[in-house]
Amino acid sequence: MNTLLTQDVEKAAEFIRCGGVVAFPTETVFGLGADVFDADAVAKIFEAKRRPGDNPLIAHIADIGQIGELASEIPETAVRFIGSFFPGPLTLVLSRSERVPDIATAGLDTIGVRMPKFDLARRFIEACGVPVVAPSANLSGRPSPTTWQAVLEDLDGRIDCILQGEPTEIGLESTVVDCTGYIPVLLRQGAVSLAELRAVIPETRESEPDDIATVRSPGLRHKHYSPKADVIIGDLIITADRQPGSAYIGLDNKREAEHFSHAKVCGSVEEYAHSLFEFFRECDRLGIHTIYCEEVDPDGIGAALMDRLRRAAQK
Ligand code: TXA
Ligand code: MG
Repeated sequence: MNTLLTQDVEKAAEFIRCGGVVAFPTETVFGLGADVFDADAVAKIFEAKRRPGDNPLIAHIADIGQIGELASEIPETAVRFIGSFFPGPLTLVLSRSERVPDIATAGLDTIGVRMPKFDLARRFIEACGVPVVAPSANLSGRPSPTTWQAVLEDLDGRIDCILQGEPTEIGLESTVVDCTGYIPVLLRQGAVSLAELRAVIPETRESEPDDIATVRSPGLRHKHYSPKADVIIGDLIITADRQPGSAYIGLDNKREAEHFSHAKVCGSVEEYAHSLFEFFRECDRLGIHTIYCEEVDPDGIGAALMDRLRRAAQK
């Protein structure tokens, strides 16, 4: 298969209308999209990414009205989150409508719904004429792509088209909240923080390992976000010598960065989050064997950043 690179929204959307798969940028990471109602097209996403079939997909919409095509009901909690955070980096898990094929939700009776804030993403979904299911556009287990070049690195020849765009603004995947129960449950940390969710619905809680909702969110169990190198959080081993084949990313000053063969010192936690996945990929290209990552305070996007670092550090 030849993968077309284009900046033309219409051309990219035409592939979706014909049952193809297209990578497109959002404000979080690039997604790999297909028509949510076309089971054969959705199957191509799982194949291209080598994604386990038990991991459900998020449906992306261009306007609020499309939620009615995907969800069988919109509870009051969801209405309030939609009012505060749509469009944006927040995915709501809702009861799914019968129109949605099983393959899109891995057989669950719920569906994740998100309306991206990034204008190019919304124009693309609008041109597709249907909600677009899309996981992150990486090979399963690799870091999510934050540039179109990273998508090409993983999926060249495996997908129909890449809608090119600037590197994604946030750089980490959306916050996921289950709204099917009485109390909303945070399933995945993202740019919308728990504190921001609680400012809207104070009862919102974090998921616990034996939560039904957690069990039903298989993506949280699979290994994720991993570079080939070992990832070590905090505890920088500083020696006078440069450590060949090791890298550093964090906020700390150059004194530490100097000791590594590859390093990125970020000016803020936001920049650290924005840069992390691309840095992991760079390290893989350079054959780095160990990446030291500075720990940050778990406030705002810091909580999502620490979550991704811990997952990447898991063996
Ligand atoms: O920012 C994002 O969310 C990006 C962009 C493309 O929108 N997408 C993304 O998709 O990160 P993916 O497939 O890589 O991650 C989706 C996560 C997984 O952890 C999955 O298990 C969970 O959301 N999820 C999806 N549908 C769910 C559902 N019905 N119930 C529970 N969890 C669900
Ligand atoms: Mg993913």
